[in-house]
Amino acid sequence: MPFRRFFERGAKREAPATDDESSVEEFASEQDVEAEAEPDEADYEGDDSAPEDAHEIDWTARARAVLPTGASTGSKRAEALYGDASAVGPTHYVSASGCRVVDPRGDTYIDCIMALGAVALGYGEPQVQQAAMVAIAEGHVSGLSHVREVDLAERLRDHIPCAEMVQFLKSGAEGVSAAVRIARTYTNRDVVIGSGYFGWHDWSSDAAGVPDAVRSLFRSVPFDDVAALEEAARDAGPRLAAIVIEPVVERMPSDAWIGAARELATSLGAVLVFDEMKTGFRLRPGGYQALSGVTPDLAVFGKALANGFPLAAVVGHRDVMEAARRTWISSTLAGESVAVAAASAVLDAHEATDICANLAAIGQAMRASVTTAIEAAGITGVTVEGIDPMWLLRFEDPHRETRFLELAASHGVLFKRGAYNYAAMAHDEETITEIEAAASAALVELLEEENGRA
Ligand SMILES: Cc1ncc(COP(=O)(O)O)c(C=O)c1O
Repeated sequence: MPFRRFFERGAKREAPATDDESSVEEFASEQDVEAEAEPDEADYEGDDSAPEDAHEIDWTARARAVLPTGASTGSKRAEALYGDASAVGPTHYVSASGCRVVDPRGDTYIDCIMALGAVALGYGEPQVQQAAMVAIAEGHVSGLSHVREVDLAERLRDHIPCAEMVQFLKSGAEGVSAAVRIARTYTNRDVVIGSGYFGWHDWSSDAAGVPDAVRSLFRSVPFDDVAALEEAARDAGPRLAAIVIEPVVERMPSDAWIGAARELATSLGAVLVFDEMKTGFRLRPGGYQALSGVTPDLAVFGKALANGFPLAAVVGHRDVMEAARRTWISSTLAGESVAVAAASAVLDAHEATDICANLAAIGQAMRASVTTAIEAAGITGVTVEGIDPMWLLRFEDPHRETRFLELAASHGVLFKRGAYNYAAMAHDEETITEIEAAASAALVELLEEENGRA
């Protein structure tokens, strides 16, 4: 099994077990030397010299030594997972199935994070996996576009209200950036108003490295604040190209806010974009717009669209989407057919069953189980918030949150720090009972530790 060999190779050299910077750096430079002298993979065939304590490798330290931020996905860094880089809990996994992940030590956890909402059916869902394997066997890329790309684009039009045309890309950030590029091309304007998180790309980011000239074209407004949106639109005036909205942030928006966004975009000749990365194929297959009846000009889907395979879809009204022809949006692997086939299998699932109704019911049961655990423990300062299919635990004290997450992990459940825990079809009744037991044990132990310290 290739993974096993890779894993054992890793075991040949142990990373430092501490967070000490110097030992991590030392380890990093030693790794460079070792990489050059790396023996053939064949050397590991039947190699029984791999130490038995392979699982004791500190993957967090190894990752920090080679990946500048410790994890290529920001929310998977130790400090993001637990709120503290030195927290005790898994940061890496070796296999995932259903709603369970196995860490390198062989310990299994129920996952409530579900790949940050990218997986709504379950890890390795058989139909999706089968579709992906068929696509691989067919040859999933070539110098031509695969027919599956056209087929999926046609099918998305049946599910998403604003979708008359579709452009595929790989990541959510890429998708929303493309929507903004299309909106700017369509309107021939430059200023964008946004509310939400749209990924790491320059146009909406406040991070270091983004030029001031780029920042000056983006105005961020708070969620569900009509006055702020109106003021930003007034300021942008005839330069307003787009209003880009993440429609659900921890709660549903008011009709007034969404109505104002629609109305302002129309009256100012700007493009209304919904970022449906988390709401698409979760609230409804067609996202928030299908639920609310408010139709944007463009929308972007990703995450649950392909149940964890990398795919984003920019969709929208024909006249706006056609502006894509006058600019340049392209990615070598945008239409590779594994993710496209996976998304088709996801659509099959939604067409066969009301997946979104199930996710809401499962999420409601998850929330109820954790609420029961909170009440039974008699703990204050923590509440269950969000909406059923994507909910969160809010701790008033971040240190208590970190300790709770550590304790919950020690009882076999990975909760998300902050937003969101995602319901998946794989969270069955038994799992939910286990979630309640783990939350309960973690909260009781948290209180005992606090009382012991008092
Ligand atoms: C609403 C929203 N938009 C865009 C993105 C960026 O997507 P990606 O991380 O796939 O680039 C995210 C990711 O969490 C998101 O939640």
